[in-house]
Amino acid sequence: MTVTLLFFLILIHAFGPSAFSLSIHKTPPLPASPVPTAAQLKWQRREITMFMHFGINTFTNSEWGTGHESPTLFNPPHLNASQWFSAAKAAGVSLVILTAKHHDGFCLWPSRYTDHSVVNSPWRDGKGDVVREFVDAGRANGIDVGIYLSPWDRHEKTYGLEVQYNEYYMGQLHELLSLYGPISEIWFDGAKGNNTVNMTYHFPDWFAMAKQLQGSINIFSNDGPDMRWGGNEIGVANETSWSMINRTSPLLTGPSLWSYTSTGDPKGTDWVPPELDVSIRQGWFWHESQHPKSAMQLLDIYYTTVGRNGVLLLNVPPNSTGLVSDTDIDNLKKFRQAVDKIFGKNIASGSNATASSERGGKYDNFTAKNVLDGNPETYWTPEEDQGTGGYWIELQGLNPTEKFNVVRIEEAIQLGQRIRRHEVFVDGRAVVKNGTTVGNKRLHRLGRAVGARTVRIRVLDSRGPPLLSEVGLHFDPFKM
Ligand SMILES: *[C@@H]1O[C@H](CO)[C@@H](O)[C@H](O)[C@H]1NC(C)=O
Ligand SMILES: *[C@@H]1O[C@H](CO)[C@@H](O)[C@H](O)[C@H]1NC(C)=O
Ligand SMILES: *[C@@H]1O[C@H](CO)[C@@H](O)[C@H](O)[C@H]1NC(C)=O
Ligand SMILES: *[C@@H]1O[C@H](CO)[C@@H](O)[C@H](O)[C@H]1NC(C)=O
Ligand SMILES: *[C@@H]1O[C@H](CO)[C@@H](O)[C@H](O)[C@H]1NC(C)=O
Ligand SMILES: *[C@@H]1O[C@H](CO)[C@@H](O)[C@H](O)[C@H]1NC(C)=O
Ligand SMILES: *[C@@H]1O[C@H](CO)[C@@H](O)[C@H](O)[C@H]1NC(C)=O
Ligand SMILES: *[C@@H]1O[C@H](CO)[C@@H](O)[C@H](O)[C@H]1NC(C)=O
Ligand SMILES: *[C@@H]1O[C@H](CO)[C@@H](O)[C@H](O)[C@H]1NC(C)=O
Repeated sequence: MTVTLLFFLILIHAFGPSAFSLSIHKTPPLPASPVPTAAQLKWQRREITMFMHFGINTFTNSEWGTGHESPTLFNPPHLNASQWFSAAKAAGVSLVILTAKHHDGFCLWPSRYTDHSVVNSPWRDGKGDVVREFVDAGRANGIDVGIYLSPWDRHEKTYGLEVQYNEYYMGQLHELLSLYGPISEIWFDGAKGNNTVNMTYHFPDWFAMAKQLQGSINIFSNDGPDMRWGGNEIGVANETSWSMINRTSPLLTGPSLWSYTSTGDPKGTDWVPPELDVSIRQGWFWHESQHPKSAMQLLDIYYTTVGRNGVLLLNVPPNSTGLVSDTDIDNLKKFRQAVDKIFGKNIASGSNATASSERGGKYDNFTAKNVLDGNPETYWTPEEDQGTGGYWIELQGLNPTEKFNVVRIEEAIQLGQRIRRHEVFVDGRAVVKNGTTVGNKRLHRLGRAVGARTVRIRVLDSRGPPLLSEVGLHFDPFKM
């Protein structure tokens, strides 16, 4: 043993390990499992995604085609998929999903397994491929793409024959997931129309094929595996909105299933967050007589979907010219501007964040200040054994002349969703809002603008200590 090392050991002995522990940090807490996959986390942080319903129905003024339509009806004179993505950009979305086939069975790509497709249409002399133009335009615009392939098929003659139709469906699924580059989301519904047809969909096989061909794809169906239906098509997530459910629970049906998938399950063993699909127009397909929702209606939907731990899937249907109507794009732009104006400024950003306790102390990595840094990876979390009195975080030193009417709270869901019940206090006085879950994002609208010196969020009940990544106070001048 060298003299230097011996001297060093004596030093450690004399001053104790604390003298040398300044650079040693407290570890992060254990996750409250389940937790999201990387692909799910990316998807939840997208907040808004877009659906585009386009096909035979666009030309026949219908929502559900019969399957007997002539492919010659499909003839959009000025189809321009780049223009579709300018609609996506107007809304600030990073993922768009196209209906490659709807219930009528007409295929927007030249599938080798049917002639009921663009091949027999006059569009691009039968040499066109809408799916190809769509994915190319998405990539050129830096926007991810997804596909909807309707299981219900009212044209295909094998529909109703279990083996033959599942072969047909999987043949088409294989084409779409292998010939068009990266696909970020695949969308399955369970529609069968009348239920008079004896048709079993082989969902487990479809899911396995999707994961095999596209390693980081997210699969939507009513109950997952990756995301679930939020329970309605009006853009209103449940006020209690967990990212978890039990996928293996005995299959509920009808209203009890919708109520289970609408709230999720705090004891759920699978991470399957809610997706809320809603159309900018009354129908899913474009109809000349229908008009888009206003920017203010879309803003309401943002609060009740994204603001309740959901992801909004907003349908914007291209018209029979093959373009997204300018009226829709205008409303999307105004909607995005409103969201950016409200959330572009956090009135709390210069305040002093303190908490009931801070894991590892106020100079370590879990300090209350982390909720103001705009970084979803950092978070505040208390000491686990802080004792009674409950967990809270408080923003102090706010300027009372700066009014706000929206409170934004975000959990660090990368380590699980935890909060069951919370309250918001303004200036220590009244509870201005009671809430249940928080999740990826919870937006509370206060109904009036208030000014304050302090705002406190108290966590009354949670699955282990809470982890808050962000807190914001915002002023919404549009919706008082
Ligand atoms: C297609 O739309 C894009 C984006 O709006 C536009 O820049 C381009 O000029 C259009 N192409 C044609 C052929 O109209
Ligand atoms: C349901 O079945 C009836 C009778 O078989 C038929 O007339 C009707 O068009 C079907 N509806 C749908 C949506 O398939
Ligand atoms: C429906 O499918 C089941 C299982 O394949 C079969 O036993 C039954 O006979 C079928 N029913 C009809 C009406 O085709
Ligand atoms: C929320 O969930 C509750 C309980 O499951 C249910 O009764 C209610 O209808 C749901 N609300 C919405 C908007 O989904
Ligand atoms: C979900 O599964 C967990 C773990 O098995 C269980 O504790 C919980 O009760 C289940 N939820 C429902 C609604 O059955
Ligand atoms: C489709 O939208 C484009 C762009 O706004 C517009 O020029 C065209 O007239 C629309 N087509 C129909 C049939 O409304
Ligand atoms: C933890 O805190 C130290 C000191 O403040 C900092 O240098 C480091 O980047 C932090 N690490 C994380 C993961 O935040
Ligand atoms: C910030 O909060 C701490 C803890 O409550 C307090 O000691 C400090 O004085 C506060 N600073 C300001 C500028 O409000
Ligand atoms: C919050 O909940 C408590 C207890 O249920 C109730 O007394 C209080 O009125 C609620 N406050 C608000 C603002 O909803």
